[in-house]
Amino acid sequence: TPLSHIRNFSIVAHIDHGKSTLADRLIQQTNTVAERDMKEQMLDSMDIERERGITIKAQTVRINYTAQNGEDYVINLIDTPGHVDFAYEVSRSMRAVEGSLLVVDSTQGVEAQTLANVYTAIDADHEIIPVLNKIDLPASDCDRVAEQIEDVIGIDASGAIRVSAKTGEGITETLEAIIEHLPPPRGDADAPLKAMLVDSWYDAYLGVIVLVRIMDGKLKKGDRVRMMQNGSVHQVDRIGVFRPAMTVVDELGPGEIGFITASIKRVADTKVGDTITHDKTPCEKPLPGFQPSVPVVFCGLFPVDSNEFEDLRDAIEKLALNDASFSYEMETSAALGFGFRCGFLGLLHLEVIRDRIEREYDIELITTAPSVIYHVYMKDGTKLDLHNPADMPDLTHVDHVEEPRIKATILVPDEYLGDVLKLCQDRRGIQEDLTYAGSRAMVVYDLPLNEVVFDFYDRLKSVTKGYASFDYQMTGYRQDNLVKMSILVNDEPVDALSMMVHRDRAEMRGRAMVEKLKDLIPRHMFKIPIQAAIGGKVIARETLSAMRKDVTAKCYGGDATRKKKLLEKQKAGKKKMRQFGKVDIPQEAFISALKMD
Ligand code: GTP
Repeated sequence: TPLSHIRNFSIVAHIDHGKSTLADRLIQQTNTVAERDMKEQMLDSMDIERERGITIKAQTVRINYTAQNGEDYVINLIDTPGHVDFAYEVSRSMRAVEGSLLVVDSTQGVEAQTLANVYTAIDADHEIIPVLNKIDLPASDCDRVAEQIEDVIGIDASGAIRVSAKTGEGITETLEAIIEHLPPPRGDADAPLKAMLVDSWYDAYLGVIVLVRIMDGKLKKGDRVRMMQNGSVHQVDRIGVFRPAMTVVDELGPGEIGFITASIKRVADTKVGDTITHDKTPCEKPLPGFQPSVPVVFCGLFPVDSNEFEDLRDAIEKLALNDASFSYEMETSAALGFGFRCGFLGLLHLEVIRDRIEREYDIELITTAPSVIYHVYMKDGTKLDLHNPADMPDLTHVDHVEEPRIKATILVPDEYLGDVLKLCQDRRGIQEDLTYAGSRAMVVYDLPLNEVVFDFYDRLKSVTKGYASFDYQMTGYRQDNLVKMSILVNDEPVDALSMMVHRDRAEMRGRAMVEKLKDLIPRHMFKIPIQAAIGGKVIARETLSAMRKDVTAKCYGGDATRKKKLLEKQKAGKKKMRQFGKVDIPQEAFISALKMD
């Protein structure tokens, strides 16, 4: 296909605004898939995505379209992840295409994530076509939403296409707009090969599949290619496109998007954003701006049943095979036994991996409080990257501690603004900006990441009844008065419950924690002190009083089967407990104790 007849685009949309439905329509209308093969939500292939309605891995499809001018075009859609955790993947995908459809639900309006992604698209020099979706719904208000797009984002929305991805109205107009308004890709077929590695994933039959966008040159089967970042060389054994099923082709040229396989064993060897070239006749310079994505949120994953440790190792190794941004190393905890310290791109990423382990591998997990990486500067001049609060060195050796900060953007209807400001303030936020667009406010806060990884999303959703949207970017590290708070149960420190806190908030957090634990830990035959401490100093304390009688006492003399049943119940319950010195702590106690409210 000549470059002038290729169009490449991505779709920017907030969750639920209709990205997948619109993509399905575009595929269906162009007969890319036979009607009977059309499954709902073709693009989201993983189960978990379908269930949660979240697109996690970027996927792509090639569409053949005969335009109203009678010419045949090839249109490539790259599906980008919609969530903040995957900001780097989004930005790379966007550099592989020339334009974006900005899909906004015309019954709702612009949301924070849309904002972040549309700016990423603008940064990638995209031509942007605004699309107002769900016009079939009575609550649709296209004029208001178009005005909002102009106000908030600052792009011309006068020509926004009005679409119902549900009924199919406006789909032809959308295809025509893609042909008419998006620029064709540029590139030189005779130059040395320069291709962008857009995405990669592991397939049980084919090995690692690499999604590529050709910038210059041509890529054929049998070619020996080099990954410019790590220098590894591979022979291409399969080359093709997605329609959306994998279809083998002879070659890919400039402007084209497709996949290759090359007997690559590990996804970790294929870094998103890397440049692929020919080993013998390489291009001069790699594509600019390569930056591997690094985990920012860490937590411990432990099997509830310690016999399942090997199964957990197996599950984690398999998942890591397909996810280069997920890191792990073994960890032992006095409280929880053997497990893994894992690193994630963000909270959603954490949740997805944890869910998959529990569901696909059927392993019940204890998850410790998510933590961020602190920079600990020691008095002797050395620096430590602290991934686990339990490893925090003794305060007497520590000079100062720095924590990561973020810039958070929140869009919220006016009536909830007060609650949102209070929440951000409570989390040590510094307000940077506050503007209005229609009946909605946009607030920008500088916040410590560690206050956000906890349960910020949940709190934000609950105080705004789900109407707020949120997005963030890491901004850098800053020194603050941070200390490690330990929790002691019956004078034994419980490592899994130790956490880094701001000194000014330590008493409050400590008190909340010990009060909660007092309710969560069942009574024993003896008195149990529960304490929060910084260094050697106790900052909060509760005492769980002793239990007088054992549970079976009340069926004294009576029914033996009832007694047996109770004992069985106890036994089952005990299995879920963890022993701390002489104290049993139920698993729920960890989970609940680690939530703030
Ligand atoms: P993620 O994959 O989670 O990012 O969501 P999405 O943006 O892909 O949204 P999706 O296509 O899953 O649509 C969300 C919901 O809106 C679904 O229940 C769709 O059926 C519905 N929907 C999408 N487009 C339309 C439309 O034009 N009209 C109506 N009435 N409903 C629509």
